[in-house]
Amino acid sequence: MLSNIFDAHAHYDDGWFDDDRDKLLASLPGQGVCGVVNNSVDLNTAKKVIALAEKYEYIYAAVGFHPENLDDMPEDYLQKIAELTKHPKVVAIGETGLDYHWDIPREKQQRVFEKQIKLSLELKMPLVVHDREAHGDVFELLRRYKPNALVHCFSGSVELMREAVRLGFYISLGGVVTFKNARQSVEVASEIPLEKLLLETDAPYMSPVPFRGKRNDSSKIIYAAEKIAALRNITVQELLNITSENAKRFYNI
Ligand code: NI
Repeated sequence: MLSNIFDAHAHYDDGWFDDDRDKLLASLPGQGVCGVVNNSVDLNTAKKVIALAEKYEYIYAAVGFHPENLDDMPEDYLQKIAELTKHPKVVAIGETGLDYHWDIPREKQQRVFEKQIKLSLELKMPLVVHDREAHGDVFELLRRYKPNALVHCFSGSVELMREAVRLGFYISLGGVVTFKNARQSVEVASEIPLEKLLLETDAPYMSPVPFRGKRNDSSKIIYAAEKIAALRNITVQELLNITSENAKRFYNI
């Protein structure tokens, strides 16, 4: 059986897990999952991801504001995030970033992202970055501040990946590499220095082939791992060992 599956980015507080969350989460260590970082998108989900991290030893939490969740932010949101990071199972600020796929005011997104970047530097916490159709502006801010960042679900080119690596960032890849039209992700997976790669699900979303459109969970990381291991000419277990070590190094676990 495979071991050392570390899921660098998931959302187990999502309503899609309401019917069987505990049964599923209790079963994952028996399927080789050694770690999960459950990401929040606002203060409400931050409480939920912390509660899950308290309940399950292998689950950790990231706290922050996602660009799609900026409507009901309290004025002292940064202070609230900073307080939550004192919890021993909170290992990062996130997820935060820019999302230009949706029609969300860009200036506000940029302001909130920039503040969370600065907070991560101030608190010396890793930062989990969401970048959807916003590479130019995301990387302008990352270049300026050089936080200790993970660009999750990386969707940029090989050239952008190389710049991210030069800046010291980590990149995580997931189910997308198994998609038929995933030429760019496959190129990135083939070229990235292995010590900078993490694996993720973004569960319940981004299920790999052959589960597209169905609910994702951390055990399904092996489908992306099989694809990437074949590209890199190493065994799936070797890839899982390397990427779990990388995740623990990035998140200081
Ligand atoms: Ni996410």
